[in-house]
Amino acid sequence: MTRRLYIPRETTASSLGAEALVTAIAAEAATRKIKIEIVRNGSRGACFMEPLVEVDSNDGRLGYSQISIDDVASLFDADFINGGKHPKSVGLVDELTWFKNQERLTFARCGLISATSVSEYEQLGGFVGLKKAIAMQSADIIQEVLTSGLRGRGGAGFPTGIKWQTVAGAEAEQKYIVCNADEGDSGTYSDRLIMEGDPLSLVEGMTIAGLAVGATMGYIYLRSEYPLTRIILQEAIDNAKTAGYLGNDVCGSGKAFDLEIRMGAGAYICGEETSLLESLEGKRGQIRFKPPLPALKGLFGKPTVVNNVISLATIPVIMEKGGKHYAGFGRGRSLGTMPFQIGGNIKFGGLVEKAFGLTLRQLIEDFGGGTYSGKPVRAIQVGGPLGAYFPAELLDTPLDYEDFAKAGGMLGHGGVVVFDETVNLAKMARFSMEFCAVESCGKCTPCRIGSVRGMETIDKIVAAKDEKDREAQISVLTDLCETMESASLCAMGGLTPVPVMSAVKHFRGDFQ
Ligand SMILES: Cc1cc2nc3c(=O)[nH]c(=O)nc-3n(C[C@H](O)[C@H](O)[C@H](O)COP(=O)(O)O)c2cc1C
Ligand code: SF4
Repeated sequence: MTRRLYIPRETTASSLGAEALVTAIAAEAATRKIKIEIVRNGSRGACFMEPLVEVDSNDGRLGYSQISIDDVASLFDADFINGGKHPKSVGLVDELTWFKNQERLTFARCGLISATSVSEYEQLGGFVGLKKAIAMQSADIIQEVLTSGLRGRGGAGFPTGIKWQTVAGAEAEQKYIVCNADEGDSGTYSDRLIMEGDPLSLVEGMTIAGLAVGATMGYIYLRSEYPLTRIILQEAIDNAKTAGYLGNDVCGSGKAFDLEIRMGAGAYICGEETSLLESLEGKRGQIRFKPPLPALKGLFGKPTVVNNVISLATIPVIMEKGGKHYAGFGRGRSLGTMPFQIGGNIKFGGLVEKAFGLTLRQLIEDFGGGTYSGKPVRAIQVGGPLGAYFPAELLDTPLDYEDFAKAGGMLGHGGVVVFDETVNLAKMARFSMEFCAVESCGKCTPCRIGSVRGMETIDKIVAAKDEKDREAQISVLTDLCETMESASLCAMGGLTPVPVMSAVKHFRGDFQ
């Protein structure tokens, strides 16, 4: 009997030796004349367990965590193919509290299936949403998205249904769907995980978006740092085309929708939607003035939906289960679930999808297990390089758009980077200014020049000869930050003051 086992084909697992592991396990099985089939699933998001090898059993999948080629012989000796116990056994993976306590909607399939297989995708509810959408009027599809309360997961949290409504209402012969897969925020990897583990959900989501607004062409703008993602995504697109889910006649509906991948070139600013559009058009990635909004005048001057990967990959489950079902998770104006990504100095780093409303503490302590170093948490940066640094006293802040903003932060793309007591926040504040100086598109003065002056001023604060001098320099920095905030053309210069001033506010002692 052939036994199925699962080894992720995914960037984290690969960087930890998954490819060599596949070869070693296949060779050992051949030597021992054991028939196996190795399924290349995506990662389930438990990065701390990778490479996680799983085998089928009557009760579910049994896991073996952090496997290297040195473990292969002992795994076979322990008869792991039949679920035999081994020092690296973790038992039934679905029963682990780390997974059990999550609420996976967007990531429900991720890591369970052979990522690019259309038939395995269909077996777990894939393309049900698209088939429903095909039978619906455009306005009804958009209504379902509005009902779900879905807000853009790229950072700004703008309601997805309203964006779609604007594009649907624009008169034009050609419209576009653009997927923002630039994923430049520090500590974020949810886009990559889903594109590598369940790429067909993105293909399906973009196709539904095309039907909803009347667009026939979609582009995925993928960051150049994701070469494996590109290969997996392209395979998924090709397979969807072969199965009739993309092309001139989507599912026999007579409607057309096609998809292509375009690679970025490593600029953070090309994640901002108007820079992204410039880059897609083959130009230098610089911010465009708004208005006009991309929804009315976007790619090649045509009405364009620009949405983040997670926003689009969540559309299939909304269409399949209904907007109301999705809105049943979360609270207030933060409805549905958010795939949080825990990183930095953390014991159990990985992706946790939960309804909005859990606290930062629950995320970091219950799921993350505290710091990797075992030292107390001192600071947390949520929302990428433009997010605030929170002190440990704010760990009980609920993770939803409104509560987090009230505490001076932003959820952004859901990246959570943890620091222990060895961090120096004056250095981190300087780094925020330096990051802005390096990544600025250069179009406006407050950002281009302000970030350089910001670095110099922080140096002066730290080197101040006395308290009076230090206060004077902090006042210069405050003024500078106010100017950057109010006069920058986009959020790059406009939000850089957030991490800087949060460091000054909460960690003043580090500036002495
Ligand atoms: C400097 C900067 C970088 C950004 N980087 C990204 C990014 O990497 N990925 C992303 O989806 N959105 C990014 N955004 C937000 C996009 O401009 C835009 O709001 C988003 O793609 C819209 O999709 P959504 O409504 O689905 O979130 C960035 C914004 C700024 C100002
Ligand atoms: S704020 Fe910075 S990144 Fe944005 S337009 Fe101005 S110079 Fe460019």
